[in-house]
Amino acid sequence: MRSTQLVTVREGATDLLVPAGFCKKGPGKSTEAVFYNKQMEFSRDVSILLGRALFEPAWRILDGLAASGARGLRMANECDSSSQFHLNDRNSYASELIRQNARLNGINDVTVHCRDLRGLLAEESFDYIDIDPFGTPVGFIDAAVQACHDGGVLAVTATDTAPLSGTYPKTSSRRYGAVSVKSPFAHETGLRILLGHIVREAAKHDRGCEPILSFHADHYFRCHLRILKGAGKADRALKSLGFAFYDEKTLARGAVSERQDGSNARYAGPLWTGELHSPGLLDSISVHDALGTRKRCMKAIDLWRGEAGAPPLYYRVDELSKRTRRQPPRMTHLVEQLRSHGAQAVSTHFDPKGFKTDMPVGELLQLFEDIADR
Ligand SMILES: C[S@@+](CC[C@H](N)C(=O)[O-])C[C@H]1O[C@@H](n2cnc3c(N)ncnc32)[C@H](O)[C@@H]1O
Repeated sequence: MRSTQLVTVREGATDLLVPAGFCKKGPGKSTEAVFYNKQMEFSRDVSILLGRALFEPAWRILDGLAASGARGLRMANECDSSSQFHLNDRNSYASELIRQNARLNGINDVTVHCRDLRGLLAEESFDYIDIDPFGTPVGFIDAAVQACHDGGVLAVTATDTAPLSGTYPKTSSRRYGAVSVKSPFAHETGLRILLGHIVREAAKHDRGCEPILSFHADHYFRCHLRILKGAGKADRALKSLGFAFYDEKTLARGAVSERQDGSNARYAGPLWTGELHSPGLLDSISVHDALGTRKRCMKAIDLWRGEAGAPPLYYRVDELSKRTRRQPPRMTHLVEQLRSHGAQAVSTHFDPKGFKTDMPVGELLQLFEDIADR
């Protein structure tokens, strides 16, 4: 690239030329000629793991907002697949850099586009579409669900976590058609609002969605959904939409299909109330050595596996601690105690101080008092 100084970084088994002033942490700003954020390496490593488990021969894979090509080129290089890879960015410096990075890694068979993504999606269809924008993905979802083949996968990042997690509820209503609410478990309601929005956008076009892996990390939400054609599939997905309620007085929380008039609870939604991950997919993933965030991936996959089948909406030990005025016990001890009392209990990836349980909140507070240090 002409005027920008480039440096080489390595992610997984792929070398990438990126602007020397690249973003190291946080959502980052688009001040460089081409965007690259080192902190998103974890999310890209997860894409590699998923690609290795999911991609089928002759699949058409699109990295729709590719910037330096970090994600799409890594998928082409590291996913051992005979899929066809397409990378797109409307910024001409970005598409030039993608070509340079493809040559650097000896990747000859990718197709590079320099288009507005919505135009490309109106003309071509794919089996895997990755949407990793600055901020909100809402402008791309409608086009992406229509351009995704039956049984294909849509991968979406959202970095507008503040609107989704209740800091800016009006923005959430405008963008996602859903009320967001501040709560100790707002990261989960934020992710579920994003999923609910995608499900409704897909349903407009008679397509159903099945979330296969959805998570919160650092400053973003990331979700992967299988897209299934058919009005019946769409109706089925819509049945899993509902609301999250939170009663600050009692600390009760949960997912319901309808809001109740006259209740003390606050409601977030509409949002996705079903499973966030497919256990079968998680079981088929094997974490290989080359990944830069290998340890983090292994830990996350364990937590995601544990969450399968757990009730929606987690508790934080510090809210129970504050309510009972007791020192919090160790998380492992708390989870063990809950299980020994016959309840379901797991740690959650959403928060190191978070856990999920089906024990009713009154019993939970009593147990917490009994086992916590005074
Ligand atoms: C956050 S960056 C993508 C980061 C990249 N996926 C990675 O892992 O490094 C978003 C990119 O989207 C591109 N972009 C924004 N709006 C676009 C549009 N409507 N069509 C195509 N590209 C677009 C920007 O030029 C930018 O490079």
